[in-house]
Amino acid sequence: MITTSPSPALSVRGLVVKYGERTVLGGVDATVQPGEIRVILGGSGSGKSTFLKGVLGLTEVSGGTVTLLGKELRSLSERELILHLQRIGVLFQNGALFGSLTVGENIALPLREHRRLPEGAIRELVRLKLAQVE
Ligand SMILES: Nc1ncnc2c1ncn2[C@@H]1O[C@H](COP(=O)(O)OP(=O)(O)O)[C@@H](O)[C@H]1O
Ligand SMILES: [Mg+2]
Repeated sequence: MITTSPSPALSVRGLVVKYGERTVLGGVDATVQPGEIRVILGGSGSGKSTFLKGVLGLTEVSGGTVTLLGKELRSLSERELILHLQRIGVLFQNGALFGSLTVGENIALPLREHRRLPEGAIRELVRLKLAQVE
């Protein structure tokens, strides 16, 4: 029987990130399969945040390739990159929610900004997400 493994959700090869002369990531490889949960563990200042910023295109990378959900990020135009990144979510450690909005309004915000959905559908999605986390 021939089985084909699904393509990885994330594939990072030889990622190099430098701040000035200083090399913070000197060729990092990482693979995350669909449905897999990974933890990045390391001391303060070891480059965990830099790795994530490199993967998300939030910091300039000096070398390597990042393939996220089947697309190599450096092959995309700025517009394509923005659209592609809308497929993923990032929850920051601090300041994760807008304090001036309710939790429900926070959930609704990206749906209003990035999707053309009727208000009723947005309300229903918000209700479902809140029910999922009770
Ligand atoms: N924008 C930046 N400019 C210069 N140096 C930075 C910048 N961001 C992080 N660094 C340095 O890069 C190293 C890795 O930082 P970081 O990725 O934030 O580590 P971690 O998230 O693992 O604590 C640290 O020495 C930090 O001081
Ligand atoms: Mg960090």
